Amino acid sequence: MSEEPKVIESLLKVEETYEPPADFREKAWVKDDSVYKKAEEDFISFWDEIAKTEIEWFEPYEKVLDDSNAPFYKWFIGGKINITYNCLDRHVKSWRKNKAAIIWQGEPEEDKRVITYYELYRRVCRFANALKKLGVKKGDRVTIYMGMVPELPVAMLACARIGAIHSVVFGGFSASALRDRINDAQAKVVITMDGFYRRGKVVETKRIVDEALEDAPSVQNVVVLKRIGNEINMEEDRDIWWHDLQYGVTPECEPEVVDSEHPLFILYTSGTTGKPKGVLHVHGGYNVGTHITTKWIFDLKDDDIYWCTADIGWITGHSYIVYGPLSNGATVLMYEGAPDYPQPDRWWSIIERYGVTVFYTAPTAIRFFMRLGEEWPKKHDLSSLRLLGTVGEPINPEAWKWYYKYIGNEKCPIVDTWWQTETGMILISPLPGVTKLKPGSATLPFPGVVADIYDEDGNPVPPNTGGKLVITRPWPSMLRTLWGDPDRYVRQYWSAYKDKLVYFTGDGARRDEDGYFWIIGRIDDVLNVSGHRIGTAELESALVAHKAVSEAAVIGKPHEVKGEVPVAFVVLKAGYEPTPELKKELKNWVRKEIGPIAVPEEIHFLEKLPKTRSGKIMRRILRAIEKGEAIGDVTTLEDETAVEEAKKKVVEEE
Ligand code: PRX
Repeated sequence: MSEEPKVIESLLKVEETYEPPADFREKAWVKDDSVYKKAEEDFISFWDEIAKTEIEWFEPYEKVLDDSNAPFYKWFIGGKINITYNCLDRHVKSWRKNKAAIIWQGEPEEDKRVITYYELYRRVCRFANALKKLGVKKGDRVTIYMGMVPELPVAMLACARIGAIHSVVFGGFSASALRDRINDAQAKVVITMDGFYRRGKVVETKRIVDEALEDAPSVQNVVVLKRIGNEINMEEDRDIWWHDLQYGVTPECEPEVVDSEHPLFILYTSGTTGKPKGVLHVHGGYNVGTHITTKWIFDLKDDDIYWCTADIGWITGHSYIVYGPLSNGATVLMYEGAPDYPQPDRWWSIIERYGVTVFYTAPTAIRFFMRLGEEWPKKHDLSSLRLLGTVGEPINPEAWKWYYKYIGNEKCPIVDTWWQTETGMILISPLPGVTKLKPGSATLPFPGVVADIYDEDGNPVPPNTGGKLVITRPWPSMLRTLWGDPDRYVRQYWSAYKDKLVYFTGDGARRDEDGYFWIIGRIDDVLNVSGHRIGTAELESALVAHKAVSEAAVIGKPHEVKGEVPVAFVVLKAGYEPTPELKKELKNWVRKEIGPIAVPEEIHFLEKLPKTRSGKIMRRILRAIEKGEAIGDVTTLEDETAVEEAKKKVVEEE
């Protein structure tokens, strides 16, 4: 946490605060702070009331929380549920039957569809039956590798409908990353598509799946949606077209009645070791947590058009495009393509065309558009917007203000939402009708959530002091375990302190005198590149898998738009020359091994890496060199010449 004091200093300069506009507050779901008090008095009854009033259960639960085997917490014990019932059936039985559930805009302007709740329900049921026809059963894993088309949520909901566990892999991951995730989950079926559009080009999804499946023996079938009509390979006896599979299948499928704790999905995320972690979420608690945070934080009403720009391949898309909004019966906008294609005003033109009212995006996107200039949003009527949100990384006050002024026209509250793949739901965020905003702060824990900041020994730190962000009380949509690795679950999240069982987030933060949380960023070896998590260890192991590389160390370097970018220091094996061609080859290698998001911005070849006497790579030193900062304590360093060499290389090459 060496950079910490500097960050705090810059954040402390921010003084402006923004009260919720009176007319917003008046109409908001949450108008005053009594929910906080209520949750504080008795958090079990708080969650109990939400679960009972907001969610439908086939059979009521007997107990809200079981902490007898902590940290393997269980919620809503004995309850029977299916999240798809809450996302579909209950709306179909109401006046919402013909309400738009998904408004889809393809990247080509003319590709658009509106899908009502009734239609979505029928599509999900039909595809659920189709999956059954393939032999998919409760508890089976299904990997979904698709672009942003409505069939992606259909596929997810169809799995959930029959109690199968979906594992969506972001469409930007490479064949090799996809293969690792399929094999870890031991998926029986893969659902994919021929391709999708990105920046006017076709991403050949099916070809990537074919490559991934060269070594994925658990997969029996591949279901392929026809989106583009491009030439693809269809493996006999393995690959089936989505439309053929559905032929003659009925659109009625009763939801599988599952236990509250039945697994809903696995979503892989990067950790501090090379192997991605399969975060597991379950039907009951995840439904409750994502439902209420969607309702209260995005203040969704029936006449809203809600747009979250995330890709469904990440947790933001799972919780706040699919499950949370659909459970609330909201109208969700989904966009297939790139933000600036064919022009930098594509997003703003979509907001204008569909009258988007609630808009949720990432700081990296805001900074990107900020650089392009306000003339682009100014070309469009954005007056339909009433609430804005951000997620994924700390938002710098400058970007916050630009967003507030040029997108929100100085009338929309901004909810800066802090959470993680593991938390399932937003844990720290303003409630837009209640909370006074401070640009750059995620403000306060959601009612019922208790967060704190601890020092190295597990003691809460005083205001304005940096420390580790911890969550000290369980919450309904928490991850239940890491798929196939319960020990790692305990080690990774619950073992920061010997005598205190608290959830350690991996983030550093401070709290100000008003109790507001200011997130500093990851304090483990995880990078946040454009709001995406990339494990340095994952990147390092990809690099050393190349025949020319003997050792690699990866660090994050601040970047104006992306927040942070990976920089690699590489030691070559004997016989390999440190040429510009080899640098290029290594970048391509990473693109192939993990995906474009992980490609290092720079690669420096070194004779040796700075290490401690016990052989640990001192990334702290590399970070300081890269930023041109003082190196600090080097007493544990094994060989100082490594530092000199790294310094020289960085200066020469940048
Ligand atoms: O470092 C925090 C950052 O993103 C991490 C979680 O990444 P992921 O699991 O990929 O989920 C991203 C979307 C929920 C966190 O540990 N992060 C997320 N939201 C914020 C944030 N940092 C600061 N402010 C936020 N609002």
